[in-house]
Amino acid sequence: MEVVIAPAEELARRAAGAVAALLRRKPDAVIGLATGSSPLDVYEELARLHAEEGLSFAQARGFLLDEYVGLPADHPERYRNVIERELASRVGWAPEQVHGPDGLADDLGAACTAYERAIRGAGGIDLQLLGIGTNGHIAFNEPASALASRTRVEALTLQTRRDNARFFGGDVEQVPTLCLTQGLGTILEARRLVMLARGEHKAEAVRQMVEGPVSAMWPATALQHHPHVTVLVDDAAASRLTMADHSRVADRSRLPCADIS
Ligand code: F6R
Repeated sequence: MEVVIAPAEELARRAAGAVAALLRRKPDAVIGLATGSSPLDVYEELARLHAEEGLSFAQARGFLLDEYVGLPADHPERYRNVIERELASRVGWAPEQVHGPDGLADDLGAACTAYERAIRGAGGIDLQLLGIGTNGHIAFNEPASALASRTRVEALTLQTRRDNARFFGGDVEQVPTLCLTQGLGTILEARRLVMLARGEHKAEAVRQMVEGPVSAMWPATALQHHPHVTVLVDDAAASRLTMADHSRVADRSRLPCADIS
């Protein structure tokens, strides 16, 4: 695991730089998209690279990590709409190139199977952007998710619904109780993982993810089994890492050939 501790602007620049380097090398790359607050300034930077440097998404495909069940098609917090608003519409990414699990399907199980098939049909995800919940969830794999889990229907914990109430006018009752989420096993198949976390409220989850024992109770610890993970954290999110100083030295001495610039 490559841990980079840096100010927020640099974290966003590095994550966007990794996506941009991939798209320049492989224009039809498959990019895994996270929602929530963590990737917003990465999407801002990608929009800037598109506008100012002509970074093209024309041939790329995108796959969302997760989706709420039951939000109306035009609901602003439906993740499909969030990605359209925050990224796709700003980088000229055609809606049919960006996919998400169908949280409005009559048969949610079949929608999960279809989503797994769609990811596989696209050749798998080249680079997956991730955030982390305060309880260590990634995508919506809540504590006690199986490390080998696949895309499925999950119930959101009260903690996650409280954390996300800020997107729903502060009213936890408005946050759906169910979601569709890529599983931990699905996420681990992406070729490269880039995780972003900021703030003191993420510090314990980050500590468990990087230094804790692998445990279903801290789902992000599954990333320890992946060969190419970059964890981008600010000082506050890194504040409980025993090895933080070592990470700072390692990052400074990393060879320029490391492909996260
Ligand atoms: C959303 C997702 C979640 C979030 C996590 C952190 O697609 O996959 O795992 O990344 O809940 O959310 P923020 O970034 O809002 O703190």
